[in-house]
Amino acid sequence: MEFERIAAILDGIPNMSRVEGERVYRHLESTGARDVLELGTAHGVSSSYMAAAVEARGGRVTTVDHVEATKLRDPQPGDVIARTGLEGSIDRVLRADSSYTWWLKDRIAEQTDADGWCEPAYDFAYIDGAHNWTIDGLAVFLVEKLLRPGGWLLLDDLDWSYGGSGSSFGPGQSPADLGMSEAEVGPPHMQLVFDLIVRQHPAFAEARLENGEWGWAKKDPTAPKRLETVAVEKGQPTTEMIRELARRAEGKARRLARR
Ligand SMILES: C[S@@+](CC[C@H](N)C(=O)[O-])C[C@H]1O[C@@H](n2cnc3c(N)ncnc32)[C@H](O)[C@@H]1O
Repeated sequence: MEFERIAAILDGIPNMSRVEGERVYRHLESTGARDVLELGTAHGVSSSYMAAAVEARGGRVTTVDHVEATKLRDPQPGDVIARTGLEGSIDRVLRADSSYTWWLKDRIAEQTDADGWCEPAYDFAYIDGAHNWTIDGLAVFLVEKLLRPGGWLLLDDLDWSYGGSGSSFGPGQSPADLGMSEAEVGPPHMQLVFDLIVRQHPAFAEARLENGEWGWAKKDPTAPKRLETVAVEKGQPTTEMIRELARRAEGKARRLARR
């Protein structure tokens, strides 16, 4: 489905904005992705943008959320997706488990053969769920197993923190529910997941920070490890990006000089 058409249908429905929707849509289009995994459906807006991008190639979006949390959504994701006419390209998974990490365990088990090899199943994975170190740190490890080489992982809301927002992203996941210390409430968990897990993971060869909010990483276990981070402001180079690249170049020069 053309981007303009899906954007008009989704206009005004949270959570993914039109600008973000177009960014992801174009990424899926340009990489030729077919099979998409999303953790965190909410109203079904990002699922719909992604399905619109892959449906022409026979692609599908699998999107996972809590069954109870989903009951409270207005508008309901089922209704939003029905409005788009993309029901045939979206598989909604609604689970009563405490977290999508349990569903990921099932999915990995399904994809694992008698020799213990997990066959990857997705070209793109979007993590926009709990925004929690413990949950999403594990989710990254599990999702990587299901991501095909050459596929991309995208984390949302790197700048979000419990302390800054005073809220949380799911039932039973508030700082009090999880018994968090003060130290855990302050920092942005997804930024930590990106810096300390994704960027250091041996399977991810390329990492990109976009707009301070999105963390992209490409799975390419055979490529030389590259930790360059490119900060992009609405597609334009920024001072921050130039500084970041300079810092990286200096670090690389120092490392080479030590060899
Ligand atoms: C920010 S919303 C997703 C927005 C959606 N991706 C979009 O852009 O349209 C986060 C969703 O993740 C779900 N969620 C949070 N933690 C979860 C968990 N541990 N397991 C399953 N779903 C979870 C919440 O119920 C919520 O619907």
